Amino acid sequence: MSENSELDVLLKTEQTFPPPPEFAANAEFRDPEVYGRADADPESWWADWARDLDWIEPWESVLDWTNPPHATWFDGGKLNVSANCLDRHVAAGRADQVAYHWEAEDAGLEDEPVTGVGSDAGGRISVTYGWLYEQTQRLANVLRERGVGRGDVVGIFMPMVPEAAVAMLACTRIGAIHNVVFGGFSAESLKERMESSEAKALITADATLRRGQPMPMKSAIEGALEDLPAMETVVVFNRCGTTPPMKAGRDIGWTESLEAADPVCEPEAMEAEDPLFLLYTSGSTAKPKGIVHTTGGYLTHATATHRMVFDLKPDDVYWCAADIGWVTGHSYIVYAPLANGATSIMFEGAPDFPARDRWWEIVERYGVTILYTAPTVIRSFMKWGEELPAAHDLTSLRLLGSVGEPINPKAWLWYHEHIGGGRCPIVDTWWQTETGGIMISPLPGITTTKPGSATRPLPGISAAIFDHNGDEIEEGGGTLVLTRPWPGMARTLFREPERFVSTYWEKFGPATYLVGDAARRDEDGYFWIVGRIDDVINVSGHRLSTMEIESALVSHPDIAEAAVIGIPDEHTGQAIIAFVIPNDEATGDSSDELREHVATRIGKLARPKEIFVTDDLPKTRSGKIMRRLLRDIADGKELGDVSTLRDPTVMAEIEAQVGEKDRT
Ligand code: WTA
Repeated sequence: MSENSELDVLLKTEQTFPPPPEFAANAEFRDPEVYGRADADPESWWADWARDLDWIEPWESVLDWTNPPHATWFDGGKLNVSANCLDRHVAAGRADQVAYHWEAEDAGLEDEPVTGVGSDAGGRISVTYGWLYEQTQRLANVLRERGVGRGDVVGIFMPMVPEAAVAMLACTRIGAIHNVVFGGFSAESLKERMESSEAKALITADATLRRGQPMPMKSAIEGALEDLPAMETVVVFNRCGTTPPMKAGRDIGWTESLEAADPVCEPEAMEAEDPLFLLYTSGSTAKPKGIVHTTGGYLTHATATHRMVFDLKPDDVYWCAADIGWVTGHSYIVYAPLANGATSIMFEGAPDFPARDRWWEIVERYGVTILYTAPTVIRSFMKWGEELPAAHDLTSLRLLGSVGEPINPKAWLWYHEHIGGGRCPIVDTWWQTETGGIMISPLPGITTTKPGSATRPLPGISAAIFDHNGDEIEEGGGTLVLTRPWPGMARTLFREPERFVSTYWEKFGPATYLVGDAARRDEDGYFWIVGRIDDVINVSGHRLSTMEIESALVSHPDIAEAAVIGIPDEHTGQAIIAFVIPNDEATGDSSDELREHVATRIGKLARPKEIFVTDDLPKTRSGKIMRRLLRDIADGKELGDVSTLRDPTVMAEIEAQVGEKDRT
């Protein structure tokens, strides 16, 4: 199995990578004493970072943790996130500095960057802080005129365009809470997330470019919008020049509305603990969780970790190649880079369009210095061959990052050698939607890295590994927990406060955060994240719930029961495998139809890689499906203990059915 060859790679190399001396000499953090200092007084540590932000009113206390798990950070403090991301840079004379070098998916090699226009112009755009500042204020005024204000929820369903950042910033300007839905999700998923967050407005686009073709967004969600009575306003950005349906009274065009709007919008003074955004993520049940992040703590955590982990310098060209629809995009494409005044890359398309060296062309063109991406993408590049990066000048790169899933040592070593030229430290950053920002990661000027390990908690962060009883395991494997509050921590689940407590803060007491990942700590105290221990599957760094996919499958008229599992996959980390029992009226066995059904219900990313049709599923006497046994079958492993099954013979039948499918 692939795991063994991974181990071989590790044993063969047994390499560790100290920070390159030249990198360390110039790093902002190069003295390990920073860990001790932060540990001795975490509150002052975070307060020092918070002081780098612009506060309208200073806070009275840094942390109140008298009633865990309910934390209050920077109580009494007031600030505005958009003002921190924009106004202060403009006021400091940096209006002309580029915030994003944006590339359209179909930008031609000869296209020159244009300033002062939006992504509807296509090609290459230099998005300045001054431009973002103006667009944000105009959009904020448009929303205000439509009655959107403090505490209202605004959905955002957009392609990877700078206007998506404008949409987020405009919400923060007026104190509205944004709820971004990844552009690849289905209309159904969008509807569910808008419904349960009671969104009053939605910001979306006519279409998104996919391999040179516009893929409709607005017309695809039209039906869903009809079912959302609370949705009063839909702002439609015209990215692709198509003409989607517009409903009078509800839908307004981005360009016309912004042109007509007042260009000045005073930022709302928000309480540190006011909600900043919601982001739905998959959990152990069919219903996604609306993670709530707040203003002061979140921004402090995001900006601090961005500077520490990426050793950010004023002349860096920083590229976080995630999508704005995920938390990585929120924290490390939008909020932290903008608040830190960075110059970033934003790329609209996929890594293999029009050719598989598109990323390396971008790195070379802009002189990218920091690249932050996911292991699944690195594994695709490995598959495509090292000749592609080798044909480009990548010597501008000085630091590489990884996020979203465990990076296997083989991919780590490839990334280090073929992208980093052997000279760039790699920061393997572990965190989650719930944590708001990076939690476990090397500091590139200090930490000696080991391929595959996220190394140690950042200064100020405290993590541990517990056994089932909640006893700490100093060395060995167990469940990962966080044992001290941190400023970016989720504060609750939207409209589900009890679920917040029971999911994360109950198992080991109200002050210990249960991560949901298994991990191991080695003799040097380094953490190795193994993967999820709940019913969450991580496909290409995207979190999906087995229950959510199962309920999508059984919503098909032909399906009586379904069980979904994740199995290891060389390219996507994990792959989705489904076992389905058709009902008596089922007319045929069409896996493709079922896969499309899941795509319609959730989104393409949730389509099972393989669907097995069976007559029965392995169940305990109490009727619980034993997914562990299905995993063994799908993996071709020796079957585990079947003695607790209601009917042990079903395993042989399923095995026979799976085997038959494998042969066809
Ligand atoms: C996994 C993404 C190993 C983990 C920021 C976590 C990782 C889940 C790493 C959160 C990493 C993320 N090494 N595993 N460096 N980063 N994970 O909420 O299982 O989309 O719980 O946040 O991804 O996924 P989410």
